[in-house]
Amino acid sequence: MLRIGTLLVFCIFSFGCQRAERYHAESAAKRAAIKSLKDAQTDELTPHWAWLETEARGTPIIFVPSSAKEWAGLPAFWNLPNPALGERTIHLGQEPLNLIVAMAAAKSQEAVKVKVPFGLPDPTPYLPAANPPTLEKWTLGKDLFFAKILTGEYKYACASCHDPEKGFADKLDQFSKAQRNTQSLINCVYNRHQFWDGRVGSLEEVIVRSLEDERPPGKGAPPPEKTHIWGGLVKTLSANKDYDWRFKEVFGIQQPTQDAIAKALATYMRTILSGNSLYDRAEAERIKKGLPSPSSAQYRPFLDEAALKSLSEPAERAGEVASLLETGHALFFGKAGCAQCHSGPLFRDGDFHNTGVAGLRDDPGRLHHLPPGLKENRLVGAFRTPTLRALPRTGPYFHEGGAANLEKVVAYYNNGVFDSPYLAKELRDPDDPGSRRELSLSDREVRALALFLRSLDGTAVDPGVANPPTTMKK
Ligand code: HEC
Ligand code: HEC
Repeated sequence: MLRIGTLLVFCIFSFGCQRAERYHAESAAKRAAIKSLKDAQTDELTPHWAWLETEARGTPIIFVPSSAKEWAGLPAFWNLPNPALGERTIHLGQEPLNLIVAMAAAKSQEAVKVKVPFGLPDPTPYLPAANPPTLEKWTLGKDLFFAKILTGEYKYACASCHDPEKGFADKLDQFSKAQRNTQSLINCVYNRHQFWDGRVGSLEEVIVRSLEDERPPGKGAPPPEKTHIWGGLVKTLSANKDYDWRFKEVFGIQQPTQDAIAKALATYMRTILSGNSLYDRAEAERIKKGLPSPSSAQYRPFLDEAALKSLSEPAERAGEVASLLETGHALFFGKAGCAQCHSGPLFRDGDFHNTGVAGLRDDPGRLHHLPPGLKENRLVGAFRTPTLRALPRTGPYFHEGGAANLEKVVAYYNNGVFDSPYLAKELRDPDDPGSRRELSLSDREVRALALFLRSLDGTAVDPGVANPPTTMKK
């Protein structure tokens, strides 16, 4: 009975008087302009494709970080506003529309709350004022992310390369034309720059930057896998009745635009969160018990069978693993100097460094994207310091995917860093800044550091975020 009731409310909500009300305020002139726009030759670029004024609408999403008082009381990742409804948590994994039905039933414009995994900072300061998250944008963004329609003739979804089963990255297995290792989107809400070279600022800009990006890449242009621009998004989505309608629903605009596509996708990507790592829990334990840092005693209570499995270690070795973690922890923040760049709660400094990974190859990295007047020697061949929070899920490593596993990464930093005049100062020998540093770690230390890197991995991304939508559209 309740289900039929909610469905009814939903029907009224979506298809009833609201639709008429939504558009009545438009002037006849605006309607005519839009009609002529739709009738226009579609290969002509028109500024309307970039942006049509949108109405703020929908159910807000609020991020609740673990520093907030109410955090502990939230039962799940997604939380409905009205507990009296009897269903406090939302099961987004099943069917995206269920959620909207539930919201309509709640007859509420109150926010849905996202319980930010423990150990992660508050995402709120990272949200652009132009794109406050709503559930409706999120649902549309998620469908777009998994749909193959978006890249037109290239026929891959965002999720083909940013595969949820591979930590929202790929294994360099399918799309080598990109010439760069696909970045994981886990915790991308905290990025201040996007891409290995930081060539754009916000998540909204990763697939559209200008009206020109609507043009499919011409002859002789770099392949879209490399530019990360596929062209023709507005044209393709406008021609699809279903999506055309959904953009009207969510944004109150007459047709999909570059602006709205970017907003929906970014809203979805901002919920790809993973935290509550073994390290996070062990650090909280250390602080609670007033232990000196680092200590095997801070890790020992958490090394149950599941934790050891996630570290790829056998169950009977808990004691030895705790001691290795103590060593790895001490090296990371001490002698190995990793935390000089991999700092803060995301284990990265938001900066770019030449770590020698590019070797002598011809990739100027960050330097290429700095405007004249802001170029610096240290940024030749420099790439963005990546977060270290989901490493076991996201290999291979480095911008060109050259390190197959974490032991190889550590071996590289140990004695293999490629020397060049542009090498970061942190990787130089403090006594002889003209040459690279050699850490000369023992085999045990290499193992300990690699194990410590594994302990930074968080719990799996919420299934409602990671599972493909059940009502997949092509
Ligand atoms: C052909 C494979 C491929 C497809 C399809 C693809 N990406 Fe990417 N993505 C990449 C690669 C490779 C990079 C790194 C590019 C670079 O640094 O130059 C990247 C980087 C990103 C980043 C930057 C992440 C960071 O940490 O800086 C975001 C965000 C992103 N992609 C989102 C998307 C979205 C949204 C879609 C779908 C519209 C998409 N990608 C489709 C391969 C792909
Ligand atoms: C000078 C700053 C700096 C220092 C010091 C540093 N890193 Fe990095 N790290 C980077 C940058 C920049 C990259 C990306 C390099 C690239 O791909 O070209 C990186 C990449 C990585 C990656 C690959 C991540 C991925 O997703 O591909 C790992 C793992 C890593 N570093 C671990 C460490 C460890 C362990 C140490 C200490 C031994 C360390 N780093 C020291 C800046 C630094």
